[in-house]
Amino acid sequence: MFLTKPRRKRNRSRLMGAVQINNTSFFVCKNNEGQICLRTGKEENLQKAMLQKMIDLNPSIKKILHDYKIKPNIDTKTLKELAGGHMNETCKIAIGIHSMLSENLKSKISKNIIKEASMLHDLGKVLIPSKIINKPAKLNLKEREIMNIHSILGYELLKTQKINLETLELIRYHHQNLKHTGYPALNCDHNPSDIGVQIISTADKYSALREARVYRRKLSRIESILILYKEVLEGKIHKEVYNALIEYVKAFDN
Ligand SMILES: [Fe+2]
Ligand SMILES: [Fe+2]
Repeated sequence: MFLTKPRRKRNRSRLMGAVQINNTSFFVCKNNEGQICLRTGKEENLQKAMLQKMIDLNPSIKKILHDYKIKPNIDTKTLKELAGGHMNETCKIAIGIHSMLSENLKSKISKNIIKEASMLHDLGKVLIPSKIINKPAKLNLKEREIMNIHSILGYELLKTQKINLETLELIRYHHQNLKHTGYPALNCDHNPSDIGVQIISTADKYSALREARVYRRKLSRIESILILYKEVLEGKIHKEVYNALIEYVKAFDN
């Protein structure tokens, strides 16, 4: 006679969300009995679970990934690097630009929207394959196309969360410019504020130029400013936003 081990009832719980209490992250779960419980988790696992939840809530994300033949893989290493470095730096510069603008332009967009959008602007990169993100050379056409969907992916990931529409539009269009020749193409129904996009995109470009990349060294303040000035001459960057950046750089980027 064979004795079979009695099957242990698996304690399955459904992830509902996440909270932070006294700097500790907790998963909010619903257990078998429908009770809400809190579970601690590694920061990285928590982020992964939250992002997976965002993907599950929005079928458009799977469709975009399918269309571009990208495996739905969440790269938390990329997120960690971006959040601790580039997105944080872009946020500081964007708030700096906002604070240096004339009262008239400043009143067109709130500092909180700028802060939220800049802190999250590249979130979509967690779904871009790391071999493209970390390629130590210029991207080819196909790779560039894939890389360029990160702004839409960021928008789609955050769309189901409690995030202001204005913030979402800035995330979606943070690679647009004043001539509207950037990406993605503008949607007539939801045009974002030009000044908001200008602040985020100018801060994003300056921050990126001042960071070393796998394919180039970190550029100096002067080199970075000159590259952006060329864009002012081309009509892509708002002159007043550029001047506000210069004021910020003179005061804080030593
Ligand atoms: Fe970006
Ligand atoms: Fe960026």
